Amino acid sequence: MAQQKNVFVTGGTSGIGLAIAQHFARAGHSLVLVGSDSTKDYRQAIDAVEQAADQKGKKVKVVSYGVDITDLSALKVLMADIHEHVGVIDVLVHSAGVFFDTPIAAETSDAFERMMKVNVNGTWNVIQAALPFIRRKSATTSYGKIIAISSISGFYGFAKYSGYSASKAAVTSLVKTLALELGPLGININAVEPGRVKTSMHDALLKDPSKAEVLRQIAAANPSGRAFSTPEDIANVVEFLAGDGADALHGTAIVVDEGTTAGMMG
Ligand SMILES: NC(=O)c1ccc[n+]([C@@H]2O[C@H](COP(=O)([O-])OP(=O)(O)OC[C@H]3O[C@@H](n4cnc5c(N)ncnc54)[C@H](OP(=O)(O)O)[C@@H]3O)[C@@H](O)[C@H]2O)c1
Repeated sequence: MAQQKNVFVTGGTSGIGLAIAQHFARAGHSLVLVGSDSTKDYRQAIDAVEQAADQKGKKVKVVSYGVDITDLSALKVLMADIHEHVGVIDVLVHSAGVFFDTPIAAETSDAFERMMKVNVNGTWNVIQAALPFIRRKSATTSYGKIIAISSISGFYGFAKYSGYSASKAAVTSLVKTLALELGPLGININAVEPGRVKTSMHDALLKDPSKAEVLRQIAAANPSGRAFSTPEDIANVVEFLAGDGADALHGTAIVVDEGTTAGMMG
């Protein structure tokens, strides 16, 4: 992406979203980071993104906002505010999401409902609220880009994580269906389907020394020999999808998973 763009990243305050924001900042683009908490200023995330740009000799504009993406009205107000202060959204990366178990034998369905609200309704809400402010292809402008971070968990069963798996299957399905609606408006929407990515989402596994053997087995089962991708691996693919070279991609789901899902029989 040669010209400077406005890149909007939900979940940009942490993990994969933060790495994506840093990646775009290194290339000199302006960033809007969105976290979940309207009372926070997300200074640490802003600093991390500015530092990434500094290291490449770039000065970029970085702002942060907090909003619960389950709240469509709040999102609409926020998007209008961002449009006024930042301008048109050239690239919308939707990385916000939650991950926890929802075992069916448990007594409550609250966790399942919360999962669906954040990961599924949240995805639809973000795209709907942002839509009036996303760039559209015209005689003088190129496609606006939406990239959703889904998960390979949506393709397969994942015991005790029915909520997460179902929510990510729904996100990928939303991307495919919305591609049919947004392509004619001049907007590309595509998904990235990560496997395991080294973020705090996996702290329970990464920080427990007794899990070293589990990690070794996961790594050995992957064709890459690595248990985890890095957030930067995901950012590289997002960069491709955000560029003009991806204009022909509508409703595609690109798997980035160290080869975890490449084979069934080993
Ligand atoms: N890590 C993996 O192995 C992996 C694999 C496949 C897919 N993914 C997907 O990648 C995305 C990012 O994961 P991650 O590992 O980077 O997780 P993370 O570090 O926990 O980041 C999650 C981000 O989502 C935001 N968020 C959560 N609930 C929200 C809400 N209700 N409203 C607004 N923002 C909300 C968080 O905001 P705060 O900073 O305010 O908490 C945070 O910025 C998720 O969609 C996840 O499902 C991750």
